[in-house]
Amino acid sequence: MGKKKAGEKISCLTCYDYTMAEIVNDTEVDVLLVGDSAANVMAGADTTLPITLDQMIYHSAAVVRGAPRPFIVGDLPFGAYGTVRQCLESAFRMMKEGGVNAVKLEGGRSVRKSVRKMVRLGIPVMGHLGLMPQSVHCLGGYGVRATTDAEAERLLSDALALEVAGCFAVVLEKIPAALAQEVTLRLSIPTIGIGAGAGVDGQILVLQDMLGMNTAFNPRFLRRYEDLTKSIRGAVNHYVEDVRSLEFPSGEEAY
Ligand code: KIV
Repeated sequence: MGKKKAGEKISCLTCYDYTMAEIVNDTEVDVLLVGDSAANVMAGADTTLPITLDQMIYHSAAVVRGAPRPFIVGDLPFGAYGTVRQCLESAFRMMKEGGVNAVKLEGGRSVRKSVRKMVRLGIPVMGHLGLMPQSVHCLGGYGVRATTDAEAERLLSDALALEVAGCFAVVLEKIPAALAQEVTLRLSIPTIGIGAGAGVDGQILVLQDMLGMNTAFNPRFLRRYEDLTKSIRGAVNHYVEDVRSLEFPSGEEAY
């Protein structure tokens, strides 16, 4: 909220494991999201639907151990917030067992009662609108959302409802840049975009995607800052060569 007022952009990345969390802890990134995209990135699932609350707690606790500095948000997974009561139980577990600072859930007016209740009970909540991967089977795919005037209106009123319900920020995924900018101007809480253009208050990318560890995923919004696929394969092949040629281990690397 402070950064939005000050006109400073917020940088966010996903993170799912201790090793990456420890590396990223020593950077200037503001927020880490333990996203349910762990289902895709860590486990190779086609959608985010299979990941369970227990698995999200496991990933969250690992990230929290590795990254004491950034603010950490944990995703409530599909099926973990169908009712207000279930949502509260899931969110409390994410906070108590996962150790996250806040939770994120997908949806607008449909989740506002749960958001209000969580916030009243001390749980900071991030919203998520636009492309909501947990609803992929209702949405019919991963295309750009809110491209018609009616959908854009609905998204704007969902965003306002989330703000009124108490969300401290809202993710806007894969929506037209002009709409994301309008939502950003209408809300006093920060908007965090992924495929939502530059007119939002912050950006989020999947860590492995921006590091070039997933060469099969090429959406237009993704900028790769590294080619770790190449570096890792190079290092592994170098090791294999050294093992085969008895170059590794050397005398100093033995006891
Ligand atoms: O799970 C996730 O990675 C997300 C981000 C893409 C916002 O929800």
